[in-house]
Amino acid sequence: MSEQKPREQWGTKLGVIMAVAGSAVGLGNFLRFPVQAAQNGGGAFMIPYFISFLLLGIPLMWIEWAIGRYGGLFGHGSAPFILNRLWKHRVVKYLGVIGIFGPIVVFIYYTYIESWLLGYAFFALTGKLLAIATPEGMKGFLAAYQGLAPGSNIWTAYIFFLITFALNFYFLYRGVQAGIELLCKIALPVLFLFGAIVAVRVLTFGAPDPARPDWNVLNGLGFLWNPDFSVLTNANVWLAAAGQIFFTLSVGMGAILTYASYLKRGDDVVLSGLTAASTNELAEVVLGGSIVIPAAFAFFGLAGATAAAHSGAFNLGFVTMPLIFGQIPLGEIFALLWFALLFLAGLTSSVSLAEPAVAFVCDEFDLDRKTAIRRLGVVLFILMQFPIFFLGHGVVDELDFWAGTFCLVLFGTIEAVLFVWVFGIEKAWDEMHHGAEMRIPGFYKPIIKYVTPLFLCFILGFWFYQQALPLLLMQGVSPEARPYVLATRFGLILLFLAIALLVRIAWYRKKAQGKVE
Ligand code: TRP
Repeated sequence: MSEQKPREQWGTKLGVIMAVAGSAVGLGNFLRFPVQAAQNGGGAFMIPYFISFLLLGIPLMWIEWAIGRYGGLFGHGSAPFILNRLWKHRVVKYLGVIGIFGPIVVFIYYTYIESWLLGYAFFALTGKLLAIATPEGMKGFLAAYQGLAPGSNIWTAYIFFLITFALNFYFLYRGVQAGIELLCKIALPVLFLFGAIVAVRVLTFGAPDPARPDWNVLNGLGFLWNPDFSVLTNANVWLAAAGQIFFTLSVGMGAILTYASYLKRGDDVVLSGLTAASTNELAEVVLGGSIVIPAAFAFFGLAGATAAAHSGAFNLGFVTMPLIFGQIPLGEIFALLWFALLFLAGLTSSVSLAEPAVAFVCDEFDLDRKTAIRRLGVVLFILMQFPIFFLGHGVVDELDFWAGTFCLVLFGTIEAVLFVWVFGIEKAWDEMHHGAEMRIPGFYKPIIKYVTPLFLCFILGFWFYQQALPLLLMQGVSPEARPYVLATRFGLILLFLAIALLVRIAWYRKKAQGKVE
């Protein structure tokens, strides 16, 4: 491994922190978190949530940064080859396929949803969106935009998809430093600013309807934050909290792993990982917790806010929020800020989802970045047509469960076990501290060694038992949707096998070159 071609690198320490934070701060912070908190006991949700953050989120963040940097030293930026540095067993590279497959699958539906936000930002600006005054009207607009309403078509959404796709690939094409890092250094502060403006506006709503003084922001905050301690003995609340931590921090996917592979040997991972995770928590708890739920409470009261929280994250973002903006002065501007901030949050996440595949092709097939991106662009473009044209048939939910929920926990468990148990905790601890600007408190060593992997195995087992089995058997899937769901599963298996085959081919190429053992 002496004559390696130089890999790309981050420009600055701030840049890589912003890139990882950009990956983590996404729709999950502003829509998924408040819904999860409201549905799972409000303020009491924060106890399992913070415990999960400390025992699961932070350790996995450090583990991914450390493993990624370590793999990068050997010229590898994708999971199959990085994990192989930890354990030289022939199956390991196939476990690592999850770290390319998962991000690709999430990319293909996430980027489509991201494009709706651009479309909505546009229609907020033209005034078309806020002219709609009823929930039915707003839902109808969304269904028509998605091409799901009778007589509607998909072409408006398709144009915004093309723009969004092009933007993603523009930044990917420019490279790690001149593309991704530049994007995140600008987009992250901008979205924080927009988020702060929207949050302040919501917090000053007071009681918008003088006839109903109890419909106010303060009660809305109380609804979200007043603790209900009885939920603490409920295993589902713990699972929801741990799941949210995984989702929001983007750990267990393979994205941060690849980002970290562009670090230099001497770069810090401990403080940087902690900073990126904390930035995400700030966006989530402070901004995410101050917008949708308090706003919904102020305008629609307790029953309305409860119904909104149970109608799901999408309804809150695409239906409830524009209805509220339609009732306030300068609503167009606030709606624009809202959708723009969500779009930017999405964009900085979606580029990170494409990067593991990019790194795999560049590193293991020795292609230059631009060629790799052109080829991958064609493949991803074709794959994206499936969620776009089969949106209404349960396809996205299926992709989201397997790639966006199950793979995260599975892959996170694999990473933790390989690093801590196979590579060994002592070596792992040294590796994490190489170049570190801060020491990890000693009590974290037993946590990382025992608590994190056990916690992970527990979640994995419980989820499998509780959600995967009913899901596998397609309980709750309408008969109409079944063929589509089955076809999606078949497609996912094919995609996984195709990537595994590419990994195998790459493997034998590298072996012939004497670059892997
Ligand atoms: N963290 C993102 C959010 O909060 C979603 C996400 C999960 C993600 N895993 C990821 C984004 C991996 C990029 C890469 O919305």
